[in-house]
Amino acid sequence: MQAVKVGLLGLGTVGSGTVSVLSRNAKEITRRAGRGIQISHAAAKEYNADAITGLDQIEKISDDAFAVVNDPEVEIIIELIGGYSPAKELVLEAIKNGKHVVTANKALIAIHGNEIFAAAQKKGVTVAFEAAVAGGIPIIKAIREGLAANQILWAAGIINGTSNFILTEMSEKGRDFDSVLKEAQDLGYAEADPSFDVEGIDAAHKLTIISSIAFGIPLQFEKTYIEGIANIEQQDVVYAAELGYRIKHLGITRKTEKGIEMRVHPTLIPHRRLIANVDGVMNAVLVKGDAVGPTLYYGAGAGSEPTASAVIADLVDIVRALTSDPENRVPHLAFQANELSDMPILPMEEVETAYYLRMQAIDRPGVLAEVTAILGELGISIEAILQKEPKEGASHVPIIFLTQRVQEKNMNEAIEKIKKLDVIEGDITRIRMESLK
Ligand code: HSE
Repeated sequence: MQAVKVGLLGLGTVGSGTVSVLSRNAKEITRRAGRGIQISHAAAKEYNADAITGLDQIEKISDDAFAVVNDPEVEIIIELIGGYSPAKELVLEAIKNGKHVVTANKALIAIHGNEIFAAAQKKGVTVAFEAAVAGGIPIIKAIREGLAANQILWAAGIINGTSNFILTEMSEKGRDFDSVLKEAQDLGYAEADPSFDVEGIDAAHKLTIISSIAFGIPLQFEKTYIEGIANIEQQDVVYAAELGYRIKHLGITRKTEKGIEMRVHPTLIPHRRLIANVDGVMNAVLVKGDAVGPTLYYGAGAGSEPTASAVIADLVDIVRALTSDPENRVPHLAFQANELSDMPILPMEEVETAYYLRMQAIDRPGVLAEVTAILGELGISIEAILQKEPKEGASHVPIIFLTQRVQEKNMNEAIEKIKKLDVIEGDITRIRMESLK
């Protein structure tokens, strides 16, 4: 049988990896797919031809991406240019032309996925996006297919390698934020705009997708609560460790009776949890199903060949299903398109979680009582208190509280009241805390 002709958009980090892995593992991939897969037409604005193995096997390369999506010989388009535009126009054009699409573009799927999937459904083609979440970890396939028997209860993941690298270096080597971020950029982990990493936007894109396939809801990026790692200080990492916790940037989604939580923020987690020990640029996603219990998926969340691994897995899936009835393919968001739920997304104020609070207090009797009185009034139970010695000559001491679970709106009110106490100086650092039991 003739090889399936594929069009490739983008020859950057992931594009190069895809070309190399496809050519290096051609035999194995053909044995799995049942047909050869050939990139026949590629488009890239710029690329380093000497650095890409297998480039000579591509029949045609130009800088015209629209020529690729309009090439009648091409059956599948791989979109690896990233960003919203022209990626969206190219994907929609490919669908209009009856081509299947594989993309690693998390921003595109999180923001425009509902529209893209509707167009694909209408045309009977597939848009596959395994590489959009957690790089090489097959988390989409695991949730969408492997856990199909379960009611998913919650998922929590370290899904931004750059943030994890920064937190790990701060915690293990005592390095400061800016120098680690610079290194992450130099190593090619960070997004083109690194604020997407450190402000939590990249993780929120990925969490939006996880949440949709876990609970069968439309993609709702705009309702995701987003907080990055920029406010985490070295001292918080140290105090958290003293209390038996590690700080990780987590994406968390949970189904509650009132609605679905979708939140991305730094989180204290017990150091004995496996996921607390996922370091550097590595990613991990913990998914709890009612039947299977907790499951953990770990691996490289970025990088050329790890991400190519996910791209090619999607390609193989599509090739295997080329002749199948579109109605019988795995649905884009795991649940049949007409079965998506309108369950509300919980506003952050209504989310219940435990907290780490750090404040600077005057070192004199009665101060703790004033703070605990406010916490008590708002029904906030204290789990642990840590008071550090004042630094030489300092009039204030750091006090750290760990609280039990409470609604975010009560905690907001408590923080506002505590900040107004004469005995408290400056801002109060609040980091959410999850046991992930
Ligand atoms: N900038 C992303 C990260 C790359 O650091 O995880 C993979 O999406």
